[in-house]
Amino acid sequence: MALELSPLSEHTGIEARGVDLSQPLDADSKERLNRAFVEHSVLVIRDQTLSAAELRDGVQNFGEIFPQHNTRFALPDCPEIHYLSNKDRYPDGTRYIPGAGYHTDHSNSETPPKATLLLAIELPDSGGDTQYVNMAAAYEALPDATKDRIADLKAMHVYQSKHSARKLMGLTDAAKQKVPDAVYHPIVRTHPESGRKSIYINPIRIDAIEGMAEADALDLLNDLLSHATEARFQYRHKWQPGDLVMWDNRCLLHKANGDYDHETQTRYLYRVMLQGDRPV
Ligand code: SIN
Repeated sequence: MALELSPLSEHTGIEARGVDLSQPLDADSKERLNRAFVEHSVLVIRDQTLSAAELRDGVQNFGEIFPQHNTRFALPDCPEIHYLSNKDRYPDGTRYIPGAGYHTDHSNSETPPKATLLLAIELPDSGGDTQYVNMAAAYEALPDATKDRIADLKAMHVYQSKHSARKLMGLTDAAKQKVPDAVYHPIVRTHPESGRKSIYINPIRIDAIEGMAEADALDLLNDLLSHATEARFQYRHKWQPGDLVMWDNRCLLHKANGDYDHETQTRYLYRVMLQGDRPV
């Protein structure tokens, strides 16, 4: 099988065919896939039929595994791999749709994961797309005055922001011991591999901006989010069976869509993350 790469939109997303991650990757394919990921931010590897253990081993072509915070979703026989499912419920019985609402993953870590990977195991007949926005393109399109205003700002990230419209599933007691109470990250971060600057915000995790009144901070964050989520910065991924999608948390926001019938349809994916650097 020869590796073929084709871009999926002008600014975000590239599709790879001719890869089987259950087998060792040759050095050239590994280098091309890693480069495609950094250049296009969403790498879609088609036609993967992988067990959880094969996924755990195969993703290490792209980096080291990052321990996910909420261990209640870990697969018992392969805990590095978690699952996402539309069949889970909050303790009060309401349905839990993981990932609905724009965010970047685990930004409440000192060194948040560079990438998240999802492998489609079962998909609804239609709907359930993942939407991405390219925060580097959004940063570059900001007026110079806004770039100057946000250049040195730092935001406080926590597990669950008091301002978030979306409620996360609570952490297990063991996980609470490992997750920091709060971390500060720049609102403009520079990608350690491409050198591009991005807006780095997270509506579910940012509680405050250092040195800024709460109302001003919320206005600024809302303005940045409305700008970044304009259609011109979006790539919408329509899942196909066997898709393994790896996205770059350093320069994207993403969200899941719960726009399908949860009684009759199942959306179930494996999820794993890769270690990243401290945002600078
Ligand atoms: C996530 O936010 O990690 C999940 C995205 C999705 O399910 O499409």
